Amino acid sequence: MKESKLKVGVIGTGIGSLHIRGYQKLPDVEVVGVVDLDSKRAKQIAEEYKIPKYFSDYRKILKLKQIDAISVCTPNSLHAEVTVAALQAGKHVLCEKPMAMNSQQAQMMVNAAKQADRKLMMAFCRRFQSDSQWFKKYIEAGELGEIYYAKTGWLRRRGIPGLGGWFTTKAKSGGGPLIDLGVHMLDLVLWFMDNPRAISVTGSTYTKFRDHYPLEKGTLDVEDLACAFIRLETGATVFLETSWVSNIKEEKIYSVLLGTKGGADLPPLRIYTEKQGGLVDLEPKLPDVSGFDAEVAHFVECILKDKEPTATAEQGLEITRILEALYKSAETGKEVVLK
Ligand SMILES: NC(=O)c1ccc[n+]([C@@H]2O[C@H](COP(=O)([O-])OP(=O)(O)OC[C@H]3O[C@@H](n4cnc5c(N)ncnc54)[C@H](O)[C@@H]3O)[C@@H](O)[C@H]2O)c1
Repeated sequence: MKESKLKVGVIGTGIGSLHIRGYQKLPDVEVVGVVDLDSKRAKQIAEEYKIPKYFSDYRKILKLKQIDAISVCTPNSLHAEVTVAALQAGKHVLCEKPMAMNSQQAQMMVNAAKQADRKLMMAFCRRFQSDSQWFKKYIEAGELGEIYYAKTGWLRRRGIPGLGGWFTTKAKSGGGPLIDLGVHMLDLVLWFMDNPRAISVTGSTYTKFRDHYPLEKGTLDVEDLACAFIRLETGATVFLETSWVSNIKEEKIYSVLLGTKGGADLPPLRIYTEKQGGLVDLEPKLPDVSGFDAEVAHFVECILKDKEPTATAEQGLEITRILEALYKSAETGKEVVLK
């Protein structure tokens, strides 16, 4: 007899629609419900993707016994509340980044997953792109040697998401480009470095462009640029920079990793090493895979095969601790030592 499909629900339908598309590409998964606070949008998405049930209150979907797993794709301030409620209702959770508003909330999420014995995976989609996946294997084969320095950034010339809305309202987002973009880049380089813990963070944040955006309604009270110098327990260093608005030529997304046997930068992935006494540059040819599709497929595989997701809740907590320390350092003008 054919096994029944894994039943999932998606809460929040902005980026949540990409989760829906990812799930619907998998033969052993059925999206049975969708939630959006905006009930018209919930209905419209349900119709567009032929999803049988839709709600405006997330608590209703959690009551559906047939649902095994939930994607949490709400604004950031709701990640902890919705994730904990979903875990307590016995659902596995794929939670969008950033994990939470602070490390206390992130710790609650980690605890809730343990207590419920359910999977809690962080939606760090950039890890699931084919260049990241290939590069991780290359690193694990020892080809870079010891990685002792990483520099990473995502800088925009002009690119504030949802100006005046929840993205630019600290009480709802937790912060600006650091929370929106920097979190991806920091996660990626720490993952390449095998997730060592951070021991100290020195950071600065700037809000130099607020007057460029006079708002008739809504709020803009987050930084427009953040940067940090992060020391890791291995002795390695990470330098991070991120902005939504800055006077640069064009948007720049980059990571540079330096190891004792090789170095690399991406995207596009290029590797710089030495073979038989000669300097060698590698240009891997890789397929263009959607990070979202691969991330959702990995979450489903972890549930079906009872495997630990690669983007763990503990790693999400560690990232949250670093971001929190960065904001504290920016506020106090001092290095923050992490225990
Ligand atoms: N992984 C990525 O690359 C990526 C990209 C974009 C956004 N995100 C993350 O996804 C999350 C959502 O971002 P977005 O861009 O989709 O935002 P969005 O504003 O486009 O969509 C959020 C949706 O959530 C709905 N919502 C608000 N409160 C809700 C509630 N209580 N219950 C149910 N629905 C509710 C809103 O009506 C809206 O439709 C954020 O945490 C963001 O950081 C991740």
